[in-house]
Amino acid sequence: MKEYANRGIKEIIAEFPEVGSVLEEYGIGCGPCTIGVCRLKDVVEIHRLPQETEDEMIRRIEAVLAPDKNMPATPFTTRGMVSPERKEYSIPIQILVDEHKLIKRWLALIPAIATHLDLASADDRQTAEKGVQFIRIYADRLHHGKEEGILFSYFDDTVDIFEVIYEDHRRARALVQEMVSALNSQNTEVFTSNLQEYADLLTEHIHKENEILFPWLDSRLTEKEHLELVTRFEKSDRNLVIDDHAFRSFVKRLEQQMNG
Ligand SMILES: [Fe+2]
Ligand SMILES: [Fe+2]
Repeated sequence: MKEYANRGIKEIIAEFPEVGSVLEEYGIGCGPCTIGVCRLKDVVEIHRLPQETEDEMIRRIEAVLAPDKNMPATPFTTRGMVSPERKEYSIPIQILVDEHKLIKRWLALIPAIATHLDLASADDRQTAEKGVQFIRIYADRLHHGKEEGILFSYFDDTVDIFEVIYEDHRRARALVQEMVSALNSQNTEVFTSNLQEYADLLTEHIHKENEILFPWLDSRLTEKEHLELVTRFEKSDRNLVIDDHAFRSFVKRLEQQMNG
């Protein structure tokens, strides 16, 4: 089993599709995951199943990988630092997850907005401008800024998974540029297609962070680093002087319009 622990999960599933089915039974959807950079031991570690459940799952995976060996489950995670019962994020990571919640509320409104938007209308132009501002200021400067400028600096960010995350951030910024020029030329079609692509990209991106990256990073941060991160996040917010309340009201108003 040890020889498989450091192999990429995508590669293992390609060779042994049944491993994917076993993982799915435990609520771990590695098959459809587009990141594909986790090793088998990361997958087990990240998902933090109760110890007994984890042992059982490992035993079943072993039975697929080495059916002729009838061995007890071999522990191969390094999660000594993480309590198996712990299901919650640390305070600083929870701050980022809470920011994701507001971003996701805006993303959820995008398909309906994109369907009806007409940049020839002054009202719609204003909605589009505010939506782009939300993306540039709240989602990018405030939120991605904390991730890239603070959180990731605690890790070796040359690891593959960070590259995936950075690439998503870069792509998001490129889409915003497209949206800004479409807004200026009042090209509704180009604007809405970029906006929709942004919504799809960020939805997937937030899923990667909430489900994979953040639990993983969280398990590697010390208590001292948690406290330090909270202080640095607060300082970063203060320096940006962003009116968080205005962005919340923007999302809330749109939700009311859509539902009313
Ligand atoms: Fe991110
Ligand atoms: Fe994020």
